[in-house]
Amino acid sequence: GEDLSKVLATRILDVPDYPKPGVVFKDITPLLGDPESFALVVGAMAEQVRAAGATRVAGLEARGFILAAPVALAAGVGFVPVRKAGKLPRATYREDYVLEYATATIEVHRDAFAPGERVMIVDDILATGGTAVAAANLVRDAGAVPVGLSVLMELDFLQGRRRFAKAVPDAGIATLLAV
Ligand code: PRP
Ligand code: MG
Repeated sequence: GEDLSKVLATRILDVPDYPKPGVVFKDITPLLGDPESFALVVGAMAEQVRAAGATRVAGLEARGFILAAPVALAAGVGFVPVRKAGKLPRATYREDYVLEYATATIEVHRDAFAPGERVMIVDDILATGGTAVAAANLVRDAGAVPVGLSVLMELDFLQGRRRFAKAVPDAGIATLLAV
């Protein structure tokens, strides 16, 4: 079988000029479509959850859900969906954040976490860090502690790591691949 580094090197495709000219999209669908590859990635991220002593995984809609739910199960902890605005049925905390050309809002249920609970935030990609910082703020608003950010991939040149570390200095950042 393949090991994790080979999977990351061969099953993530560069798609030039998507979604717009000059941008290289990182397509992880070949990785997700291969069960051995998917299991290697989920296992590595679940190990990060355990190493951080997290008792909950917060997954970020939409692409983060694909990884966060199996990671939570593999780590033996509960899953909390951080959703785009307007999708959660009960009382929420909300956080606005800035995207390239617009603003967005994410929400979490007010009772999603136990007080002081250690939470690992899981997403597919760390780019500018805006999404991850907003998620960490939500975890704090809900009375829990963001102890880490676990992403499959980090886009170094956008410096999201620096932004997240500045906003959430006590949280670790774990990435399987930096590009
Ligand atoms: C993408 C990606 C990350 C985020 C990273 O999500 O899945 O969540 O951008 O960018 P940032 O670090 O600059 O915030 P997107 O908002 O495109 O939506 P999706 O996950 O629903 O596809
Ligand atoms: Mg996303």
